[in-house]
Amino acid sequence: MNVCVRAAIDGDLEAVASLHAQAFSRQRDSKQWVIATLAAAPRLLAFVLLIDGNIRGYAFWAQKSGLRALVTLELDQIAICAAWQRQGLGARLIKDSLDQLVARLRHSGQTVQNILISTRADNQAQSLYQQVLGATTVATIEGLYSGTEVFMLAPVQPPTHR
Ligand SMILES: CC(C)(COP(=O)(O)OP(=O)(O)OC[C@H]1O[C@@H](n2cnc3c(N)ncnc32)[C@H](O)[C@@H]1OP(=O)(O)O)[C@@H](O)C(=O)NCCC(=O)NCCS
Repeated sequence: MNVCVRAAIDGDLEAVASLHAQAFSRQRDSKQWVIATLAAAPRLLAFVLLIDGNIRGYAFWAQKSGLRALVTLELDQIAICAAWQRQGLGARLIKDSLDQLVARLRHSGQTVQNILISTRADNQAQSLYQQVLGATTVATIEGLYSGTEVFMLAPVQPPTHR
């Protein structure tokens, strides 16, 4: 099985929109959502995970509060195709896309200092974010979106050679 993570391109639209529709049943207009995301770089930066050449996951990252020298990135949205979940692919997608993103932003003179993530309080993805990013819960807002939303924050270690 060949797994790879790369930046998303316009040709990924249909596959990513289809995954979005499956993963987020409360959200509408998947195609429009993905078109808008792909068009919003560098504010939003999209990645896909491929298994044997087929898109099986995606991650959207967002630069928060403007384009800054010290960047707070938000993991805006992530999904792995249901048939492929609980095999470490979500973790792989987060790690690989973040590594690529950190390198890309470094080329623009930007350093990622921390990562913000929010998810519904009943979503088990919290333990994924804790394990992979070292994220901890910093705030909870009741009644946001479709229920109680948990906000997590993770520091990003600067490269040791700096
Ligand atoms: C969240 C999501 C991306 C995780 O992808 P995944 O490929 O299943 O994640 P991994 O296999 O890398 O999981 C790593 C760890 O996270 C935790 N985890 C992930 N999903 C879990 C679940 N449904 N229940 C319990 N723990 C879970 C586990 O600790 C897991 O490690 P383990 O399998 O060794 O116990 C996937 O479940 C998904 O697409 N969900 C629907 C969309 C969604 O809710 N996205 C997040 C909100 S934006």
